[in-house]
Amino acid sequence: MPTRTVEYGVFLPVSSGGWIPSTTTPELDGSYAYNLEVTRLAERLGFDFTLSQAVWRGYAGPSHHFEVNLESLTTTAGLAAATERIGVWSTCNTATFHPAVLAKMIATADQISGGRTGLNIVAGGNRASETQMGLGASLSNPDKYRRAREWVTVCKLLWTEDGVDFDGEFFTLKDCQSKPKPAAGPPPMICAAVSDIGLRFTAEMLDGCLFEGTSRESMIEVGTRAKRIAEEVGSPLKTYCVFMVIPGETDADAQRRLDLYNAGRDTETMARMFAEHGNAAWDKAEFEARRAEWEKTTAVSTGTLCGSADTIAEQLADIIEAGRIDGAVFIMPDFIGDLAALGEAILPQLARHGLPGAALALD
Ligand SMILES: Cc1cc2nc3c(=O)[nH]c(=O)nc-3n(C[C@H](O)[C@H](O)[C@H](O)COP(=O)(O)O)c2cc1C
Repeated sequence: MPTRTVEYGVFLPVSSGGWIPSTTTPELDGSYAYNLEVTRLAERLGFDFTLSQAVWRGYAGPSHHFEVNLESLTTTAGLAAATERIGVWSTCNTATFHPAVLAKMIATADQISGGRTGLNIVAGGNRASETQMGLGASLSNPDKYRRAREWVTVCKLLWTEDGVDFDGEFFTLKDCQSKPKPAAGPPPMICAAVSDIGLRFTAEMLDGCLFEGTSRESMIEVGTRAKRIAEEVGSPLKTYCVFMVIPGETDADAQRRLDLYNAGRDTETMARMFAEHGNAAWDKAEFEARRAEWEKTTAVSTGTLCGSADTIAEQLADIIEAGRIDGAVFIMPDFIGDLAALGEAILPQLARHGLPGAALALD
């Protein structure tokens, strides 16, 4: 019998190319029609929520990775109207929307969805997305999270109080009105953060952290570090980890898929991604050394679980337990075929490992 709760989510491919910068993956066009189909399937399969990211610029490589990006909040509004049970969560970069605008968008999505909405915030996100709009680039990590603290505080005030006065370092509100309010108060809020400062902010202000890792060890490291920081600040913080699943009939079939996608790796895109996420503290020599190392990595790098249904279920259960993970958020090369395999053949097996499987399709 399951001994604890785990939430299962789908990280929607609202950006073209999904999460593998490669020319040999199934085409993901980043269209609303495709994401609607994926969300309806996820709902039928019993997943708890879908989440869409907030990206505004692609990497101009041969795979056209992230060239097309749906806007997250309006995608959520559409998906909320087209579904009945599943949670529909958005992402907002605190650099792009004023908190009073976001507070009202979420309150609106709350009505459309009947209380099924949630919010992932990024305190300062993909740099190229921001600099093209003249936003964010000047903020260091501590500054980003100071702004995020104010941003979240303002949202929560607007969701719960009338006539908000706020005199902060980044935001000033004078008798700011915001109705409607979310019916049950602030929605679930998480933050995509991996640094200690980001995790501390998340534990103090929000309900969950969202992270990824490139290996079993790195996922476990972030999950357990997040829980330790949460315990230090006395927070019941939930940990949500992103997993890439590549299922096959057999382990060998799945490995062939992985090899095919890696063979088409888009090194131009990968180099630009590295440049964007590289640490400002590195000098030129360290940057180049790390970049050379990173360029040798594979195109499929986010927390990859590859194999037969049995193999993936075993790997997943192991990381969820060892990493103290409360939510698994899935990405995959093909969000129809692979999602069906995940919901029908993999997650139901987690019960054997003492974890809940997603409540399977009712129809
Ligand atoms: C799982 C995950 C999802 C993310 N989603 C987005 C996103 O939708 N939009 C964006 O601009 N940045 C996104 N990011 C980038 C994060 O904002 C950025 O990596 C984060 O600030 C790094 O954490 P740190 O501030 O603790 O160093 C995401 C990062 C992670 C780990």
